[in-house]
Amino acid sequence: MNTISAIEFSGISKSFAGVPVLRGISFKLGAGRTLGLVGENGAGKSTLMNILGGNLLPDTGGMVLGGTPYTPQDPTDAARAGVAFIHQELNLFANLSIAENLFLAALPRMGSMPWIDRRALHDRTATLLGQVGLAIAPETLVEQLSAGERQLVEIARALALEARLIILDEPTTSLSVRETETLFSLLRRLQARGIALIYISHLLEHVRQLCHDLVVLRDGEVVAQGPIEAYDTPAIISAMVGRSLTRLYPERRGASTTVPLLEVRSLTQLHIVRDISFTVHRGEVLGIFGLMGAGRSELARILFGLDSAQYGEVRMREKVINRREGPRERMERGLAFLTEDRRHEGLCLEASIADNLALVSLREHARTPLRLLDRNTWQQAISTIRAAVRLTAKVSDAQSVQTLSGGNQQKVILGKWLLAKPEVLILDEPTRGVDVGARFELYQLILDLADRGAGVLMISSEIEELTGLCDRILVMSQGEIRGNFPRTEFSRERLLVAALPREAHA
Ligand SMILES: Nc1ncnc2c1ncn2[C@@H]1O[C@H](COP(=O)(O)OP(=O)(O)OP(=O)(O)O)[C@@H](O)[C@H]1O
Ligand SMILES: [Mg+2]
Repeated sequence: MNTISAIEFSGISKSFAGVPVLRGISFKLGAGRTLGLVGENGAGKSTLMNILGGNLLPDTGGMVLGGTPYTPQDPTDAARAGVAFIHQELNLFANLSIAENLFLAALPRMGSMPWIDRRALHDRTATLLGQVGLAIAPETLVEQLSAGERQLVEIARALALEARLIILDEPTTSLSVRETETLFSLLRRLQARGIALIYISHLLEHVRQLCHDLVVLRDGEVVAQGPIEAYDTPAIISAMVGRSLTRLYPERRGASTTVPLLEVRSLTQLHIVRDISFTVHRGEVLGIFGLMGAGRSELARILFGLDSAQYGEVRMREKVINRREGPRERMERGLAFLTEDRRHEGLCLEASIADNLALVSLREHARTPLRLLDRNTWQQAISTIRAAVRLTAKVSDAQSVQTLSGGNQQKVILGKWLLAKPEVLILDEPTRGVDVGARFELYQLILDLADRGAGVLMISSEIEELTGLCDRILVMSQGEIRGNFPRTEFSRERLLVAALPREAHA
């Protein structure tokens, strides 16, 4: 057995503004092995990987890469040493071609001339795309690619660098089931070539499928490590959260009623949603399951007035919503929408947490005749929400959202909408990137909202989450509703079968 480690961390510590985020991290990863790095939101996973990838310098401690001391000063150093980092939020230039993205640092030249050798660029790119299984022209602009394809391009870039160690920070969060399978078979090929991988994910099944070894971080420390077989899922979860979680879904106290709240009739937008009709009732948590591209997010955007429909009618509390009403009017009717794309639509990254929480509900907190903000009420509301979404005490209200971990950003978005006290809340993949412990709290908030008489429409690609939480599940495929299952009829197989596209359906 090879005794040289792919990477070895010893005593790595890092603080931000005096707050320790990593505290004496030590572990090693054997050559050619795959490590699953897991932990709650804010545990320090991305920070540790930023140190490995040369984006951050540690305060103390050192690293040894393939038997040699390794002190990257910037990402270029890391790349030169054979470390590629595929970030939580992908890092490609959308307006450049695939080829340009792959060889940005080292565009092939015409001999000693300054001109780029387009032919060589094309050929090398084509070879790499072949290796990752992407049949797309090298000149294609990255903005035209799906999330899954971009992920594969990132890996092609790692291969272009001849990386020996590839870090993947939550690579599957925006991938469809099929894209995830493609990614996994590619990662298995990389494993077979002896490339070491560090794989970060909140989906423990994925970690189990892919990884040889496990490291659990909690609050900046390693709290468990060893071969993956040594840990069953409940053991991993309790290491992550520091207590044993007896259940993953909170108990439902209230129940769905038959009072209609949001009624959708024959909603149609050519090629996107076809003749959709359903009703969300008071107190109901209605799930929408479907594969990526089934039309679920498009439906949600139409309901919230971000996109328009050609036909059909939507009623809120028995009143018809005019087709031309935009998000603002619909919010006044009590509708709220948590989008799947937190980076572009959900948050103002430079603004503070408090300001982000305030975005949709300031009006309610400024009821005085002069429309002044009642600071006390407001502060109270923020504290309640912070506690409810379990933002750790480490995080201050004034901190800008871009310094939060990915999962904590998601909690701020949900908090923002909960403060607005909606009548109907539409959630698009609300727990993406959120750890298991915090998921429970988010689920609790969602159920509480329903128990208070609101309606919840929850879009998710995770069947377990929907069956754990919903009163009823609709299945969408190819823009249509293909199934309507009450709780008594929930089954993984049935939902999946209903979600599969029909070949004959042109
Ligand atoms: N530049 C920064 N300034 C201040 N705090 C920061 C900065 N970068 C990270 N942090 C803090 O460090 C902690 C660890 O963050 P990190 O992003 O490493 O968590 P994570 O384990 O990747 O979480 P997630 O699962 O949510 O992605 C968080 O509390 C975060 O707010
Ligand atoms: Mg992270």
